[in-house]
Amino acid sequence: DPLIIRGKDEMREWSRSARAEGKTIGFVPTMGFLHDGHLSLINESKKHADLTVVSIYVNPGQFSPNEDLSTYPSDFDGDIQKLKSVSGSGVDVVFHPQNLYDYGQNGGRRNGGGGEEGKVVSCVEINGGMGHETWVRVERLEKGLCGNSRPVFFRGVATIVAKLFNIVEPDVAVFGKKDYQQLRIIKRMVRDLDFGINVIGADLIRDEDGLAKSSRNVHLSPQEREKALSISKSLLNAKFAAEKGQLNCKELRDSVIQAIQEAGGKVDYAEIVDQESLESLKEITSPAVFCVAAIFGNVRLLDNMEINA
Ligand code: PAJ
Repeated sequence: DPLIIRGKDEMREWSRSARAEGKTIGFVPTMGFLHDGHLSLINESKKHADLTVVSIYVNPGQFSPNEDLSTYPSDFDGDIQKLKSVSGSGVDVVFHPQNLYDYGQNGGRRNGGGGEEGKVVSCVEINGGMGHETWVRVERLEKGLCGNSRPVFFRGVATIVAKLFNIVEPDVAVFGKKDYQQLRIIKRMVRDLDFGINVIGADLIRDEDGLAKSSRNVHLSPQEREKALSISKSLLNAKFAAEKGQLNCKELRDSVIQAIQEAGGKVDYAEIVDQESLESLKEITSPAVFCVAAIFGNVRLLDNMEINA
């Protein structure tokens, strides 16, 4: 069974003693309500490191007040059961802090730093600078795509991932291509701030019907779920069209936007961007990724497909 660690000092001590024994550490940060997408990241980590740490922490710092922090799904016991099913020797540690913004009375060291007793802070308190005011911003990459409709999201993500990296001190960290912009931002942060961590991108995992796996899918009714398949279906059609020589991004985007709208979805964005720079493309002339965010019911869904035409 995985060791469950709740305090940040205890987490850091575990990592340091594992490394003192010559072991390498792989790390998979999550917000819990685990599914096969998360489990595939764990399997990837196990290929690259001796030991694997999974964190489960719903980070209030990456939610705006109008977003779904309060309804974000969680099931810690179910998550532990799923983690026990991971093949091989399983997951070594589950890091499950209660509040990573509780710095206690002495700056987060020793007694204050456990995060066990602290009350759970709201996104308003954190983003209002009460008790926490240091943010990591990846200035160009955090703009555009999800950054347009979620203005504090990526600084919240980059900051919590930097904090987790400083607590877990991993050798390798695995992120899913499902959150393509997030992966690019973390890779850039690690390079620009010399974290010395090997960041690995893992493939997007889908359900059998094609829907990209997401913890938030649980909020879709069966009817909404059926309609939401318009996202992956239209993306796949666009990918096939591009591979057959249709390289005009406006036409490819229009076909996806139309398919999603006809199914009753609200398109937040449907953009074809360069895989590395995430700059918008007019014509697919370099390895591209077609990124979509669309709302069905009250659920904001992300999907993307790489196009190497
Ligand atoms: P969460 O949405 O729980 O995702 C945790 C990791 O799982 C991310 O790297 C994400 O890209 C990956 N993932 C989710 N669904 C996937 C799928 N269908 N296929 C492949 N990978 C998938 O992303 C976050 O949490 C948070 O922003 C976090 C990085 C933990 C910071 O709070």
